[in-house]
Amino acid sequence: MAVSGPHIIIMAAGKGKRMQSQQPKVLHEVLCRPLIEHVVHMACSIPHQSVSVVVGAQDEGIRHACKAYPEVQFIRQDPPLGTGHAVLCAKDLFKDRSGDVLVLNGDVVGLSRETLEGFIQSHSRGSYSASVLSMKLENPTGYGRILRDGSQKMQGIREEKDASESERKVREVNCGIYLFAKTPLFECLGSVQQKNSQKEYYLTDVLGLLVDKNQKIEAHPISDSREALGINDRKELYEVEKFLQQRVNDALMRKGVTLRHPETIFIDPYAEIATDVEIEGNCVIARSEIGTGTRVESGCRVLGSRIGQNVHLKQGSYLEQSEVGEGSVVGPYAHLRPASKLGKNVKIGNFVEVKKAEMGEGSKASHLSYIGDAIIGKNVNLGCGFITCNYDGKNKHQTTIEDDVFVGSDSQTVAPLRVGKGAYVASGTTLTKDVPPGDLAIARTRQENKKGFAQKLQSKLQSKKGN
Ligand code: UD1
Ligand code: CA
Repeated sequence: MAVSGPHIIIMAAGKGKRMQSQQPKVLHEVLCRPLIEHVVHMACSIPHQSVSVVVGAQDEGIRHACKAYPEVQFIRQDPPLGTGHAVLCAKDLFKDRSGDVLVLNGDVVGLSRETLEGFIQSHSRGSYSASVLSMKLENPTGYGRILRDGSQKMQGIREEKDASESERKVREVNCGIYLFAKTPLFECLGSVQQKNSQKEYYLTDVLGLLVDKNQKIEAHPISDSREALGINDRKELYEVEKFLQQRVNDALMRKGVTLRHPETIFIDPYAEIATDVEIEGNCVIARSEIGTGTRVESGCRVLGSRIGQNVHLKQGSYLEQSEVGEGSVVGPYAHLRPASKLGKNVKIGNFVEVKKAEMGEGSKASHLSYIGDAIIGKNVNLGCGFITCNYDGKNKHQTTIEDDVFVGSDSQTVAPLRVGKGAYVASGTTLTKDVPPGDLAIARTRQENKKGFAQKLQSKLQSKKGN
């Protein structure tokens, strides 16, 4: 094997019939990321020469899911005729390549880096032509069985559907993770036949063919079989997700993150959560960073966001692609939509929605507001029910509110407009034009009080009702 690591092929073109789904299996998610992304991430995080993904006809979603890994190459397998055929589709791409080929099932997502690196080491130490990762299961149903002779020498792999009764009793199974020397791999793939119950070209047949050619092969047992469980239906998806969730959460707790009811908390494995963060139950945190001392109350969803230190996200808040500065408070039940950027010590209160808007240090919108397409300066107070009227039915328009502005409750800005520094907007005002710095803006009809009219009105209404 070359010092720089193997070439990696990830098989992801299968239909995944057992998922009973319109979408390709590898696009189903565990811990907030598509299966394929977990596998690609794993592949890219170990030493390697190249990473290729075999895709079928519905490849757009898979390409999109891999977009954070620009080095990934795609190989088309259409129609998918089995795992052996999937790897054979890479033959042309591999014409001028040398070294070992690590083949990964696209539906095995829990392997740790240590496991994969250990597998690669065992393979190269023994100078095998092919190695497979194996596991012993209480219930091996559904997996290909590792066949060994009387002296425990590996002879090949038998798929369950083609296995004899005694072969089915074997509890050592194929994890779907393989290392091959390149040349014998492609030679043998050329001779793989579809003569099996599924009429597919099985990659697993290559192992037996290598034995026939007196090549050295081995199955290397994994220490924790939960890492290698495949996902074929939604029950297995749940089992694997539960295992990964526990692994992620246990590691976070050991690192100094408090999780309350961790069995209800889903944090993606690559989220960055600092120490002394506290997260309550029923939260989902994906593709995000959370700074130290921050508290996330129950029922929050934090997606693609950067949360600073000592922030308080109160119950039921939903944050997407947003930034929250140090010391800010958000919620309960607030919604930060994409491109919202809160500075330090900002307060976003209950039932406030922010979209594509910046709020400067110390600014507040404490109750029931919509702040969209806006730049709000520092120390601005947006009163209860403030609304940016940003949309005219065709286009979105910007509201700018400079530092130290006070906006009274139930006010609106009919954008585009600007409120100058230190201005004061009276309650109930609908702004339709700019307010110069330091001015008071008031736009509402004057109040009139009619002496004693309440009584008269009441009796008039009463007599009408009697009629
Ligand atoms: C496969 C193995 C089995 C092993 C199990 C481990 C074969 C024949 N069997 O069975 O020995 O115990 O994995 O999880 O390989 N794929 C393609 N193109 C195809 C068919 C499949 O790219 O034509 C991809 C799938 O998208 C999937 C992977 O290959 O990511 C495995 O396919 P799957 O149908 O799940 O194989 P299993 O029946 O689980
Ligand atoms: Ca599978």
